[in-house]
Amino acid sequence: MTPQKSVRDYIRTIVDFPHEGIFFRDVTTLFADPRGFRLCVDQLLHPYAGQRIDKVVGLEARGFILGGAVAHQLGTGFVPIRKKGKLPHTTISQDYKLEYGEAIVEIHDDAIQPGETVLVVDDLLATGGTAEAGIKLIERLGGQIVGCAFVVDLPDLGGRDRLTQLGMEVHALCA
Ligand code: PRP
Ligand code: ADE
Repeated sequence: MTPQKSVRDYIRTIVDFPHEGIFFRDVTTLFADPRGFRLCVDQLLHPYAGQRIDKVVGLEARGFILGGAVAHQLGTGFVPIRKKGKLPHTTISQDYKLEYGEAIVEIHDDAIQPGETVLVVDDLLATGGTAEAGIKLIERLGGQIVGCAFVVDLPDLGGRDRLTQLGMEVHALCA
């Protein structure tokens, strides 16, 4: 019998994208495969099934694809955190550093009500800068984060330690 593929087996690595020295984990091959996509969505939400979650927050851009599917399965609302200038209503902003650059992310200021429980979803945890910026936005609105779920964790870049130090519970499917 052929062994079942794991989530990691569906992800390809592109060397030197978008800059020299970056090993880019390309999850489009995971998303494009019907078994791979279902497997990763099921595994992402598994620890949270049965917990009270009011909103799933997805981080632009690949976190939207995963977060939308996770929210649908959990029966929760979905809230996007977007790069600066993309959201149409009143927003709050947070700047952060990337593995390869700097950016600002925003959330609608009425997207999360104080006391709502939130699950943060993204495809990949590298330095943790993006996730930390998202966490700050959610907490500034009074949201209570129950966990941060990622498909890929690159532990050498320190993101997991960074989020753990912020008191976050980090769930990742592969390194
Ligand atoms: C990638 C990835 C995470 C972030 C992780 O997004 O999807 O959101 O980087 O890096 P960090 O842990 O060092 O912050 P990217 O900024 O490339 O944006 P995109 O999904 O819009 O392409
Ligand atoms: N975002 C930050 N670092 C990344 C990497 N190595 N692969 C894919 N997305 C990333």
